[in-house]
Amino acid sequence: MTGSLNVVVGITGGIAAYKAVGVIRSFVLAGHRVQVVATTGALRFVGRPTLEAISRNPVHTELYEGVAEVRHVAIGQAADLIVIAPATANTIAKLAAGLADDLLGNTVLASTAPVVLAPAMHTEMWQNPATQANIATLRSRGVTVVGPASGQLTGTDSGPGRMEEPDAIVDAALAAVSGETARTPGDLDGCAIVITAGGTREPLDPVRFLGNRSSGKQGVALATAAAQRGAAVTLIASHLDVPAPNGVTVIDAPSAAELQAAVTDAAPRADIVIMAAAVSDYRPAEVQESKIKKEDAGDELLLRLVKNPDILAGLAHNARPDQTIVGFAAETAHGDDELIRIGRAKLARKGCDFLVVNRVGWNEGFARDTNSVVMLARGGTIALTESGDKLAVAERILDILLAERR
Ligand code: C5P
Repeated sequence: MTGSLNVVVGITGGIAAYKAVGVIRSFVLAGHRVQVVATTGALRFVGRPTLEAISRNPVHTELYEGVAEVRHVAIGQAADLIVIAPATANTIAKLAAGLADDLLGNTVLASTAPVVLAPAMHTEMWQNPATQANIATLRSRGVTVVGPASGQLTGTDSGPGRMEEPDAIVDAALAAVSGETARTPGDLDGCAIVITAGGTREPLDPVRFLGNRSSGKQGVALATAAAQRGAAVTLIASHLDVPAPNGVTVIDAPSAAELQAAVTDAAPRADIVIMAAAVSDYRPAEVQESKIKKEDAGDELLLRLVKNPDILAGLAHNARPDQTIVGFAAETAHGDDELIRIGRAKLARKGCDFLVVNRVGWNEGFARDTNSVVMLARGGTIALTESGDKLAVAERILDILLAERR
């Protein structure tokens, strides 16, 4: 349990600002001291007297007030925890850029305390690649992002973008302070997902391998998004270029054989298995005990390769009726029609529930932060076409899987 904390609650200009009152109240009732820093936009949505009464403290907004007490850094320096609820797309962008053009920006920059954001905005704004890239940047700096939840928004529309409920925000924030992994209840709560990511390396000798250009970014984005939405994620990792997210179980699987062993072990406990890793189709028939020497091999070296088992096809074949099995396929197709045709044939061969297909080439598809995919459902129907930041693509893929399971 955490002792009494100095909590800064940042409030920014969105309709969900009214729900910030519940966040402040929970902290105060739990015995913490709350200092509200509101943007001028926030005060258009919720009144200063309400915030002052509930927080039992003056509310600060202006950068050029309290200059004698160096308020622009003092609030951040004194904070044990900063919670920004709601966090608008604008504030998220400013924080990602490190801007300090208002009191909240200064407070965050001047603080070493954990920062927790509860985004709230319309679905289009949340899914915009700019917002997703900013969120990814903030997460990579250790910021905890709670929600957004999916549901009714301000207008008649509904979807991801609703601010998470105050109790969930407070729980995640206190967990962030006590060093626990903040786990957000979400639409994948209770769902066990196994995700493979990266590219396998098939050893030739103690120093060489046959490998591929997969960075693991799309698989890691899927793991990040699924964990954020409440799933229990097992990430089977094969040479990732990017760090695995917090809050997931990571199992290293350097080669196809090790990946097969890890997947075979984890899959029976999974509701969903997503095979995003690029698994080598072949491996050297013999692995040399010592380094192959050119003095011995001469001018021409022939490698004999043997086929690896198709892990995805095996999984699909043995899947329980309540399991969803998803494959990925990176193809060097010449256009979308060819890509979809190859994808449909592969989906039928593998027997999985979904196949996410993307185009690759010398200058396309690998190691980037964006992706462009077509997701095919059993029978070959197009369930999704999506382009954008890999995290945004991951969110859409999970939306489809969730809808199918429901
Ligand atoms: O046949 P192809 O390698 O294009 O299939 C790609 C899909 O199959 C990916 O989901 C990959 O993880 C999976 N795969 C597999 N076992 C292999 C090769 C690929 O599970 N030996």
